[in-house]
Amino acid sequence: MAIITKEWKGTEYFPITELDHVEFYAGNAKQAVHYYRTVFGFKPYAYAGPETGRRDAVSYVLKQNKIFFVITTPLNSSHPATDWLKTHGDGVCDVAFKADSAKEAYESCLSRDAKSAYDFTEISDENGTFRKAAIKTYGDTIHSFIERKDYNGLWAPGYEKLEMGPVSFEDPGLILMDHIVGNVDDGKMDTWKEYYERVFGLTNFIVFDEGDISTKFSALKSRVMRSKNWKVLFPINEPAKGLKKSQIEEYLEFNEGPGVQHIALLTSDIIKTITALRKNGVEFLYVPDTYYDDILDRVGPIDEALAPLKELGILIDRDDEGYLLQLFTKPVEDRPTLFYEIIQRKGSRGFGQGNFQALFESIESEQERRGNL
Ligand code: FE2
Repeated sequence: MAIITKEWKGTEYFPITELDHVEFYAGNAKQAVHYYRTVFGFKPYAYAGPETGRRDAVSYVLKQNKIFFVITTPLNSSHPATDWLKTHGDGVCDVAFKADSAKEAYESCLSRDAKSAYDFTEISDENGTFRKAAIKTYGDTIHSFIERKDYNGLWAPGYEKLEMGPVSFEDPGLILMDHIVGNVDDGKMDTWKEYYERVFGLTNFIVFDEGDISTKFSALKSRVMRSKNWKVLFPINEPAKGLKKSQIEEYLEFNEGPGVQHIALLTSDIIKTITALRKNGVEFLYVPDTYYDDILDRVGPIDEALAPLKELGILIDRDDEGYLLQLFTKPVEDRPTLFYEIIQRKGSRGFGQGNFQALFESIESEQERRGNL
C-alpha cells in the first residue's frame, strides 16, 4: 500500500514559497511558441534575442495566469543548449524557484553538497537589480533561484515586452503548476528523494511501490516530495521491474537519461479546460469506456455530471480528503518524453493513484504502437 505522511518532517533551511517558472530548450522556439499559444492558450509576455542585444540565443517568456514558461533556442553550435538538445531533444532544462535571496538559497544548497549549475549572478539595468543562481538536479536538469525583490522590470534585464499578432484559440483557463515530475534511473529514486530532503529540506509525502502501481507488463515506483506550504510538489519516479519495458524506461531511453516527465497544470473547471484544449488540438491519452462503468461505485458522489466527464475522457480519484479530476496528454514531442497533466482538485492532495491502473493500460497501448513495449 502507498504510504502517506501528511505531517511536515522537513527543515526550512531557506524560504521555499513557490515556483517561478519552467524553462524549456527547444530546437525552434518560434514554432514552439506558436504551439503553446494556439494549443495551450499561453500569452506572449517577454523576449530576449538579437533584437534586444543577446547574440547567442533567443528566449520567449509565455504567461497564463500564474504559469510562466520560458522557451529558449540556441543560435549557434557552441551554446551549451545545442549539446543539451542533441542529447535530450526538446524538454525542460530548468525548474526555477522564486527566492527571497538567490545568494542565500544557492549558498545554503551548496553547503549541503549540491553542485553549482551556474554561479550567483547580479544584473542591473534601469529597472533595478535582478539576481539569480542555480544548482544541478537529476540528469541535465537544473533548479534556478530567481530573486526579483529589487527589480521592477517586466521579466529580467535584457528582456523586452513580447509583442505578437493575434491568434485564435479557446482559453483553457490554466491557473498554476500543480506539480512537476522527474524520471530518474533505475535504483536512484531514493538517492534523489534524499537529495531533496538534504539540499532543499523537503519532506517525503507519498511513497508508491511496485505493488501500488502495476499492470501485467510494467510497474512504477514513486516518491512525492513537498515543501512546507504544499506549493512545491515533486514526485520522483524510477522504473520498476515488469514483464515488458515500463513507460519510465521508455522515457529514460529516448531522453537519454533522467529528466522532467510531466508538468501538471491546475484548473478550477476541468470540463471547460479539456473542452478548450481538445478543440485547440491537444491529444490526450485514450481512456477506455469501461473505466466509467463502475466509477461512481469507486469514487462515490461527485459534483459533476458523469456524461461530460466520460465524453471528454476525464479521470476521477478519491482519497480521505476529497477527490480530484485529471487527464494526461500524449507526449508533446516526437521523442516519447515530456507530457502534461491537467488536474482539478476538490479536496484531494493526492496524485490519482487509483487511476494509474487504467492509465498505464492506455499508455502501454501507445507504447506498443511505437514498438517500445
Ligand atoms: Fe502527475
